[in-house]
Amino acid sequence: MIVWSDKIATGVKSIDVQHRVLIRNFNDLERHIVEKTLNVRILRDLLIFLLKYAEWHFGNEERCAAHHNCPIAELNRKQHEWYIKRFTEVYKEFRNKGEWNEEELYEWAIMIHRELSEWLINHVIKTDRRIGVCLGELRPEDVE
Ligand SMILES: [Fe+2]
Repeated sequence: MIVWSDKIATGVKSIDVQHRVLIRNFNDLERHIVEKTLNVRILRDLLIFLLKYAEWHFGNEERCAAHHNCPIAELNRKQHEWYIKRFTEVYKEFRNKGEWNEEELYEWAIMIHRELSEWLINHVIKTDRRIGVCLGELRPEDVE
């Protein structure tokens, strides 16, 4: 589970609120895996949400970084592009699979949960927190 802490906060309220929503949904996926309550419909709904909500959130964040002329803006945009491209591939793979047996479904869900949630946290810590510095919400020395 990803636990919210100051280490992953950007200090920018609207961005942090949206990050919490993404984290909550990644944690929901993990909970379904751990509690063995996952099924194709739940996984599909979570994947769609994590893709669409991230797309909307990235747009907001990119406009904010561009508006404040943050030095990190372009790198941030490129990293978002990677996530959307990768997540779209993942979703297509899921759709094209058709029939899943339980073991395959769990194995696949564990793998994509790990890959994409690790990406998100790494991205928030290394890139998004620099937006916090740019907006004067974090001190440069507190950011990796
Ligand atoms: Fe970002």
